[in-house]
Amino acid sequence: MSDNILQVNNLTKLFGGLAAVSNCSLNIRSGSITGIIGPNGSGKTTLFNLIAGNLKSNDGEVIFNDENITDVPSHELFGRGLLRTFQIAHEFSNLTVLENLMMVPSNQSGENLLNALIKPGLVKKEEKVIREKAYEVVDFLNLTHLANERAGNLSGGQKKLLELGRTMMVDAKLVLLDEVGAGVNRTLLKDLGTAILKLNKEKNYTFCMIEHDMDFISRMCDPVIVMADGSVLFEGTSEEVKKNEKVIESYLGKSNLTKKEN
Ligand SMILES: Nc1ncnc2c1ncn2[C@@H]1O[C@H](COP(=O)(O)OP(=O)(O)O)[C@@H](O)[C@H]1O
Ligand SMILES: [Mg+2]
Repeated sequence: MSDNILQVNNLTKLFGGLAAVSNCSLNIRSGSITGIIGPNGSGKTTLFNLIAGNLKSNDGEVIFNDENITDVPSHELFGRGLLRTFQIAHEFSNLTVLENLMMVPSNQSGENLLNALIKPGLVKKEEKVIREKAYEVVDFLNLTHLANERAGNLSGGQKKLLELGRTMMVDAKLVLLDEVGAGVNRTLLKDLGTAILKLNKEKNYTFCMIEHDMDFISRMCDPVIVMADGSVLFEGTSEEVKKNEKVIESYLGKSNLTKKEN
């Protein structure tokens, strides 16, 4: 098996005349926390949408664990351990934190109406297992005190933690995080970073994260991939990225590569 959990080969996505992702190639090393940065509009989110099966590509291929997953729909990838979070958290605001976690689809037989009718005992038992798992996840994220709080009442940062928690309800292998740190205050950002590092170390999750905050990226990511105009401009350590002329130039006149002031 290859060292790379994910390979993107010459991927292209056109929106009308605009190539949002343009002949883009990159690899994600198994076990890494790989950062993706790039000016606004450089195609980062579109790249995630293509990889995670939320959009269909025009050209190129995506290989996950040596299998071609180009244009495989997101729900199927979810079952194979390729998960993503969204730039804007999308919790069920009227449900509690615990219920939100329990809603994450899995192979639970309760989802199957026939099973619910003919094997109610089995469904009850599985619900108990899922509930216990959800408690484990809130514990891991230090959200136990909020387990029964409505998700709509959480702070922005806590919602991001819950978003990460959803990936922990299944056996994730590769998790794509789209600006999971954006709008999160310093203290929570630290917790979020710690949770990600812990998942990487203890549960062997590979992460690929789009971020703007260079301090956060320096703490978390190696390597860092820089995108510009829909493809890869540069790849290196965060130190190399900060010093690279091409990278600095691509950000000139843009305010993306700045420290966040919260
Ligand atoms: N659904 C869409 N329809 C048309 N254009 C889009 C769509 N999604 C993104 N784009 C365009 O594609 C380019 C890349 O966007 P995006 O991937 O969101 O960039 P980033 O995440 O790096 O800020 C932008 O010019 C954006 O306006
Ligand atoms: Mg984006």
